[in-house]
Amino acid sequence: MMPTHLCCPVCRAALISSDNSLRCDNGHSFDRARQGYWNLLLVNKKRSKNPGDSAEMVQARRAFLNEGHYQPLSDQVNSLATALCQTEQLNNIVDMGCGEGFYTERLFQQLNEQQLPQQLTGLDISKPAVRAACQRTKAIHWLVASGADMPLPEASVDLLLVMFSRLMPQPFADLIKPGGHLLLAWPGDNHLIELRQQIYQEVRSSGFDPTAQLEGLFSCEQIKPVSYRFTLDNPHSIATLLEMTPHARRLTAEAREKLQQQPQLELTLDVNLGIFRRL
Ligand SMILES: C[S@@+](CC[C@H](N)C(=O)[O-])C[C@H]1O[C@@H](n2cnc3c(N)ncnc32)[C@H](O)[C@@H]1O
Ligand SMILES: [Zn+2]
Repeated sequence: MMPTHLCCPVCRAALISSDNSLRCDNGHSFDRARQGYWNLLLVNKKRSKNPGDSAEMVQARRAFLNEGHYQPLSDQVNSLATALCQTEQLNNIVDMGCGEGFYTERLFQQLNEQQLPQQLTGLDISKPAVRAACQRTKAIHWLVASGADMPLPEASVDLLLVMFSRLMPQPFADLIKPGGHLLLAWPGDNHLIELRQQIYQEVRSSGFDPTAQLEGLFSCEQIKPVSYRFTLDNPHSIATLLEMTPHARRLTAEAREKLQQQPQLELTLDVNLGIFRRL
């Protein structure tokens, strides 16, 4: 499936597809990668050679998410998105910072089951993440691109999904249609609290307040906390979680060993899902 909704990351003219490439009227052209994604990240916009999550982090996230512990969270995201699609016609949905595509693909399946047609795009700055996402399905447009400068026309997106990725108020506001929505997921104070208690001497609240950061650009329509307990019942799952979470990078060797020796780990998922409307 060729995309028809993208714009050139160099000059922002519309990208027109032909064969396996996209080109704009100013002669900039981009080839489709063998795996099926489009690389629209300009070399001069990269801050490092391999920006975003590394291949190891992507593999750990995939292994962890495929175990299903976050499926109820994904179901909640899907029900909020479906409700939006049922009240307003949403044609263009983007998942920014989509990672290896767990939530993106589940949303795609849900919308198809509900016969809610849409164009879904998953975008991430990490090439290994987008490569992994391509293995999930080819029916989603997968892009390597920067969330700070997305290759889509201004005010063209009906719903922007941002799961555990960076909030960039102005770029998001530029992209979303007036009246369109941002669905944002961020950790609540008790998210993985049992793990954080073993890592930090004092567990602090992040103080993250998206409503304040989005003020003047978006109004907050709803914040839905999702909270439940789940159990990792083998050392492999515990090790996978440790590879996936940024907290684990602060673990001492001793604390890591102690965690990995536990036969099981009871954890709390505590995530906020916020729906914000572009003013
Ligand atoms: C914590 S992961 C979340 C991935 C996915 N949404 C999930 O929940 O499974 C954050 C993702 O944001 C990506 N990322 C970081 N900076 C980015 C940027 N400026 N633009 C696009 N993606 C970015 C990373 O590569 C990583 O895949
Ligand atoms: Zn161009």
